Amino acid sequence: MSAGDQYSLQVSAGPDPDEVEHHESGEIGPTGRPYREVPEPKPLDRHGPATVIAVCNQKGGVGKTTSTINLGAALAEYGRRVLLVDLDPQGALSAGLGVPHHELEQTVYNLLVPPQVATDEVLMRTRVDGLDLLPSNIDLSAAEIQLVSEVGREQALARALHPVLDRYDVVLIDCQPSLGLLTVNALACADTVLIPMECEYFSLRGLALLTDTIDKVRDRLNPRLELGGILVTMFDARTLHSREVMSRVVEVFGDAVYDTVITRTVRFPETSVAGEPITSWAPKSAGAKAYRALAREVIARNVKQT
Ligand SMILES: Nc1ncnc2c1ncn2[C@@H]1O[C@H](COP(=O)(O)OP(=O)(O)O)[C@@H](O)[C@H]1O
Ligand SMILES: [Mg+2]
Repeated sequence: MSAGDQYSLQVSAGPDPDEVEHHESGEIGPTGRPYREVPEPKPLDRHGPATVIAVCNQKGGVGKTTSTINLGAALAEYGRRVLLVDLDPQGALSAGLGVPHHELEQTVYNLLVPPQVATDEVLMRTRVDGLDLLPSNIDLSAAEIQLVSEVGREQALARALHPVLDRYDVVLIDCQPSLGLLTVNALACADTVLIPMECEYFSLRGLALLTDTIDKVRDRLNPRLELGGILVTMFDARTLHSREVMSRVVEVFGDAVYDTVITRTVRFPETSVAGEPITSWAPKSAGAKAYRALAREVIARNVKQT
């Protein structure tokens, strides 16, 4: 394939109808509210400029990486060109896509810390059509300290992404579980923040810290930053506890809570071992259908319509 073809328009009819969830109008969803109307994603006649979405929560194990991979793959099924950015030195996003990240010479680290390399030198395609990756490994753990003395240290990621934004419809940034300088870099170049929240316990304090950080970044660095939505993950409809946490989240965050809810299932840990998204590993599974439903909500609610 020549370089010219590489970013040509993809015509995608979207996923098979039997791989998509359907709701009756007025049907009550797992949030306890009726599902809102979400239009079918329109086919695109060109790509870009990208909407940048930071997937962020300073708590670990809430489904950030899982959501980044599977939302990204589902958006690609709808014909969107998607770039995933691994901004966690653990490299779980890269590993989850089957990339042997420990062996990589050039990673996101080399985009952020001088002497920088060109973004195209780090960019990789994945096994999923339309889904590209900027991978990371443990090298990135040094970036936070090395960036501290740089001018414009909060905008290092923005500078690295700028040259490729026109080629993509959506950029998803998988943040590390902290509110440190790497996460601030993600927020500084994002249009919206998607917050995955594990339906285990409700920590208003934890979320207040995160929303304070979002407010500060909006005031000081990035006036266009919006809260894109709260994604409830690891939901178990059979337990009263899960349903109670859900109603608290909806009470506090209202419409910001996506109608799509991700159920707890062992299919997700399986996919990380397989190194591929659930949409290709188990295309008809409830988990795959949920991330497709989320992709439709994100396209309708968060992605710039051009
Ligand atoms: N809906 C889910 N049900 C069950 N396990 C899940 C679910 N989502 C993620 N996991 C698993 O939970 C662990 C943490 O998820 P991960 O996406 O890595 O969280 P984070 O990136 O926020 O640390 C992983 O082992 C992942 O496979
Ligand atoms: Mg992670």
